Amino acid sequence: MRPRQYFPLGKAYGKAFCNRVDETNKLMGNIKSGKHTFLVAPRRYGKSSLCEKVIELADVPWSKLDFHLAINEKGVERSIINGITELIGKSIGSVEKLTTLIKKYAKKLKPKLNIATKIFSLELELSDDSTPGENIAEAMLILEKLLCERNKQAVIILDEFQEIGTMKEGKGIEGAIRHAAQEMSQLSLIFSGSNPHLLRAMFEDERRPLYKLCRKLILDRISEEHYKQHLNKAAKMMWDTELSDQTFERIMLLTERHPYYINYLCDELWSENTKIPSITSVNHAWNKVIEEERSDLLKDFSSLSENQKKIMVYLSNYGGENLYSDDAAKKMDMPASSISRAVSTLIEKDYIEKTKTGYRLIVPAFKMLLIKN
Ligand SMILES: Nc1ncnc2c1ncn2[C@@H]1O[C@H](COP(=O)(O)OP(=O)(O)O)[C@@H](O)[C@H]1O
Ligand SMILES: [Mg+2]
Repeated sequence: MRPRQYFPLGKAYGKAFCNRVDETNKLMGNIKSGKHTFLVAPRRYGKSSLCEKVIELADVPWSKLDFHLAINEKGVERSIINGITELIGKSIGSVEKLTTLIKKYAKKLKPKLNIATKIFSLELELSDDSTPGENIAEAMLILEKLLCERNKQAVIILDEFQEIGTMKEGKGIEGAIRHAAQEMSQLSLIFSGSNPHLLRAMFEDERRPLYKLCRKLILDRISEEHYKQHLNKAAKMMWDTELSDQTFERIMLLTERHPYYINYLCDELWSENTKIPSITSVNHAWNKVIEEERSDLLKDFSSLSENQKKIMVYLSNYGGENLYSDDAAKKMDMPASSISRAVSTLIEKDYIEKTKTGYRLIVPAFKMLLIKN
């Protein structure tokens, strides 16, 4: 077996994909019934892998818009219009017989039929006298009407959508998307992003345009039980036997079930061991992962304020269950009010997250660097 295929650092496909059965069913249900979804989790928890797996299973045409590098309103407009044009091509194909319908709904955009190819594909040209918001809403509605006409479904993934919330003109775009999204029955939107704090503000604040538009889907870490089956399957393929309980527990403990770090560690472990790995081999592989990540982690750490750093160090050494205790305040030499402020900022910046029992570092690899000997 090739470990990189079973434990990829990029999207997980096929046999690399572990569990997510409930999430798959929920997302599938939303797509099939034309509901919009708001998919929220820190980066590298498996949002893209889940979306692509489900859409493939649903067997509907789709297009993904990534706003990670979007700079301004114009850039967002371009990216959405291009995505929609591409999706019209994929889902409708030739629009030759649909020109009356297109003309009826294109009030601002200038539709152009491209007859250079065998099929009559549609191009949507922007006019200067309409706003990006108007153009976006109109393009989305044209696609929806075409899908209705052909009785087809399609999906648009709007990835790293929080970037729009941080833009000066973002609200206009959010409003336009809401306007169009309310009319949709065939086109289903998936808003996803890796800053839960910003995304939640966009969808859960009643003053924001996208309030209550979507079904929320929270992606948590995959359970130990599911990872046990997943890793043991790979262990059997590689070494003809399952991992010992201690070895498995060590993998869970170090990675804290962070999907990216499990794959990183296991890829290393599976590639470097000709025999079933022991706890020592796991420790060895984890050290290698940390070494490779060290400079990035240190750069991230050095960008924090002194109080934020103290919280990170505290969480690494004592865990996040008693962060607001007197003892914690004493250990960090910080008053409760400063702890609370630093915690909020670290949540906003995606360094830590709330759990059922307290707080934890999102990136487990920080622990090794910040633990005091
Ligand atoms: N269901 C899954 N089973 C196993 N590994 C997964 C799963 N989903 C994601 N991963 C792994 O987690 C890491 C991040 O996945 P990705 O889908 O790119 O996350 P995101 O889009 O949230 O940043 C990758 O290493 C990927 O292979
Ligand atoms: Mg992603």
